[in-house]
Amino acid sequence: MIKNKKLNTQDINIFKEGTFITKTPKETRNLGKKFASALKNGDIIFLKGNLGSGKTTFTQGIVKAFGNKGFARSSSFMLVNEYNANSIKLFHLDLYRLKPSNVWDIGIEEYIYSNNISIIEWADRLIGFENDNHWNIEISNMQSKRKIKIEKKK
Ligand SMILES: Nc1ncnc2c1ncn2[C@@H]1O[C@H](COP(=O)(O)OP(=O)(O)OP(=O)(O)O)[C@@H](O)[C@H]1O
Ligand SMILES: [Mg+2]
Repeated sequence: MIKNKKLNTQDINIFKEGTFITKTPKETRNLGKKFASALKNGDIIFLKGNLGSGKTTFTQGIVKAFGNKGFARSSSFMLVNEYNANSIKLFHLDLYRLKPSNVWDIGIEEYIYSNNISIIEWADRLIGFENDNHWNIEISNMQSKRKIKIEKKK
């Protein structure tokens, strides 16, 4: 994995603002797994990026880090996948099929304000969300490489 800083996974602050390049799906999954160590109850993760950029692949790493044997699948057919992780739950939401105007009709606040962890693909659909204390992850693709920009304001 190439990145702009030496990746010391003990130091979770590297994820507060960092850009990482992965060359394979496995590297993306591993980055998700390491990133998971920075997560706390109530965290909300926005995942943005084109179709096939690697949002679900990154999520698979997070799900794995929380000790789930089940593999995160693309939630294209389901709006929400739920995983149990010790005392908390991990919600993997995919808003791709929703129009921005319908996003709030599905009761999404029950997930994101539940004090569990919510990972949201196509979070750009979530218009009107007022909380700048979430993780923002943007994935862009350049052939098989992925540029993964992670930031959290607070
Ligand atoms: N470095 C890489 N990281 C992640 N995925 C990669 C990488 N290189 C190639 N791929 C391929 O890109 C695809 C990423 O698919 P994935 O389902 O994770 O994307 P997504 O962003 O969730 O798409 P969607 O918007 O359709 O939900 C997979 O087919 C994967 O094998
Ligand atoms: Mg996906």
